[in-house]
Amino acid sequence: MKTESIDVFPQITEWEEEITKGIRPSLFNLEGKTLDGMINSIHEERIRNFYKMAKLVAISDNVRRGREFSKAFFKNLELMISSVSDYTQIVDRLNLRLGWVDIKTGDSRALPVENKSIDGIVTSPPYSIALDYVSNDAHALRELGYNISGIREGFIGVRGKGQTRVDLYNEDMKLSLQEMFRVLKPKKYAVIVIGNATYLGQEVKTVEFTIDYAEKIGFKLVKNIDKIIFGLYNVMLKENILIFQKEVPK
Ligand SMILES: C[S@@+](CC[C@H](N)C(=O)[O-])C[C@H]1O[C@@H](n2cnc3c(N)ncnc32)[C@H](O)[C@@H]1O
Repeated sequence: MKTESIDVFPQITEWEEEITKGIRPSLFNLEGKTLDGMINSIHEERIRNFYKMAKLVAISDNVRRGREFSKAFFKNLELMISSVSDYTQIVDRLNLRLGWVDIKTGDSRALPVENKSIDGIVTSPPYSIALDYVSNDAHALRELGYNISGIREGFIGVRGKGQTRVDLYNEDMKLSLQEMFRVLKPKKYAVIVIGNATYLGQEVKTVEFTIDYAEKIGFKLVKNIDKIIFGLYNVMLKENILIFQKEVPK
């Protein structure tokens, strides 16, 4: 998202002013424009995406944290703009060569990607069945135009109940790991951020499961970094950053 925004950063900041003028209530604002109306009137897709993202985060702040929507929207916008601004400066200062961006949506169990075509993978899959990503993100999914009923089949870790849910999660993660292996070029790396979850008072050993299965299909674990989660979830204290390399059969 940041990389996509860099090229259109000046226009993004111009639109901030435009949108603020258009929708912030004031004595002089008689236009009465809506946020959706303004976002949809942005022709350039990358700029429109930036504002849609700020809106999605504000919806989430409103639903999950009870924050007032328009305050949350402008706050997020400010944070996102300063983050892209920092990123632009770092790119200049370090003379970085950024890759091109092509955002695709799809199911990690069947990636719409050619065999051996990817240079690196960075991903954070669901941590076992710790969170229900359909109920939890229902507001955002609806905003993106998805129909919530019937969407569960496409999600990892939310199908079935009790032990069946854990079993289905494991099967889905095996498929996802196989897909990562398939699309990666030989000797390249896949970085997986994952943690053990607690379900019905018991720890589900997702990290060990991931390492075991990944090694079974030909990945080599080259690094396992423990990372403490600071006050984010009270059910989870740490997560792991697993760095795998795709081995080439001798
Ligand atoms: C631990 S979260 C990672 C979130 C992401 N890294 C981020 O910062 O927003 C796991 C994500 O995997 C998504 N997910 C669940 N099933 C999936 C599937 N079959 N294919 C791709 N993503 C899936 C969930 O919706 C959730 O957003």
